Amino acid sequence: MNDKTRSRRLLEDAARFGIRYREASVDRAVAPSKKALADVQQFVEPMPDVGTSDGDVIALLDEIGSPATMTMTSPRYFGFVIGGSLPVTVASNWLTTAWDQNVVMHEITPAVATLERVAMNWMIELFGLPSDSAAAFVTGATVANFTSLAAARNRIYADIGWDVEADGLLDAPPVTVLIGAEAHPTLIKSLGLLGFGRKRAIEVPVDRQGRMDASKLPALDGPAIVCTQAGNLNTGAFDPVADICDAVKPKGAWVHVDGAFGLWAAASPDRQHLCAGMQSADSWATDAHKWLNVPYDSGIAFVRDGAALKSAMSITADYLMTHSEFRNPSDYTPELSRRARGVDVWAALKSLGRQGVAAMIDRSCSNARRFAARLHEAGFEVLNDVVLNQVLVSFGDDATNRRIIDEIQKDGTCWCGVTVWQGRTAMRISVCNWSTTVADVDKSLDAILAIAQRSA
Ligand SMILES: Cc1ncc(COP(=O)(O)O)c(C=O)c1O
Repeated sequence: MNDKTRSRRLLEDAARFGIRYREASVDRAVAPSKKALADVQQFVEPMPDVGTSDGDVIALLDEIGSPATMTMTSPRYFGFVIGGSLPVTVASNWLTTAWDQNVVMHEITPAVATLERVAMNWMIELFGLPSDSAAAFVTGATVANFTSLAAARNRIYADIGWDVEADGLLDAPPVTVLIGAEAHPTLIKSLGLLGFGRKRAIEVPVDRQGRMDASKLPALDGPAIVCTQAGNLNTGAFDPVADICDAVKPKGAWVHVDGAFGLWAAASPDRQHLCAGMQSADSWATDAHKWLNVPYDSGIAFVRDGAALKSAMSITADYLMTHSEFRNPSDYTPELSRRARGVDVWAALKSLGRQGVAAMIDRSCSNARRFAARLHEAGFEVLNDVVLNQVLVSFGDDATNRRIIDEIQKDGTCWCGVTVWQGRTAMRISVCNWSTTVADVDKSLDAILAIAQRSA
């Protein structure tokens, strides 16, 4: 076999294994078996002196790795907030990987830089954001929050005559940062990474759904950043961003929206009321690997003031074409080198169109309501208002909940996570996968209710 044939066979094998895995994910148990988990230990070995053939490396991955994965592509995986990757995006991902483009500069990667620019503009339109907003394709909402807040830091300090990029924060005047008491922990981490501290932000009280109470915002005097949330990871609730903007924007505050999955509600005519007023904010973070169902890792930061984002992120180097007439992707991201993850976003949006995105969002929301209705009918307490795709259910006291959730996970028909919501242990159902059908919801409910009724 010559090198070309060997290389082709290798890629064909990987594609065959991947296709077989995805086809099987509809029927296989969602969680890996005990045997599969034990077999993973075979990977744990000293660094080999001698290499293994490429074909054997890929065969080993499939033989030992595939069975030990949690089937996150399953239509009955409801853990965390996890999409299932649309087939067209897996295909675009494979092709983009084959291209192996480093999307630093437009001049050297014109195709992917163009596709990312198009995807950016489509999302800006879909979410109704200011048309001249800038965007950064990053690894996920964590880094999208970080990137947005780096732009906020740049602008807020520039407004008071402090060049934070040049001089840092050591002797800088203080900035007030407000967050909701149910802000996502990655937002707090981002504040820490940016030098604002994980504990210095002022927490604004929230209601029972986790929504910030706009009437309890402290009076602002001086530079400020206000971090809001579109889609709480437990309840799916939205902060009243319009009211918050009305209260703090006249004081010059920067308003950020963490919309890791909730921002996609803006793409559905039936759900966009949840995002009312969000367009008045200054920055928005979202994920494509959640509700747009593209492969990991894919998040996006949008910033109204593109110059602030560029000042925070761009570098100057003689060997780079940093003074290009084109939009250089790396002017907007924390990374210099990176994969062209925006191509998968483009492929999803091109394949679904505006109507397809809305239908996917609406389908998840109606499946979430179906879960909530049957659990409620069966006598179990649904703890949240099911406004989006998240359902919180309690089967009894904390110990009962943990026991039942553990059994549900082990049963393998579906997979749901455990959480603690405002002091109460509960099961979290997140409906995010493009392929989840009503039949999948009913099959999962049958399994959940059988276990819960037996063990409650
Ligand atoms: C509201 C919110 N923000 C941020 C994140 C972090 O997203 P990622 O894990 O993609 O970085 C999540 C994840 O679930 C989230 O729900």
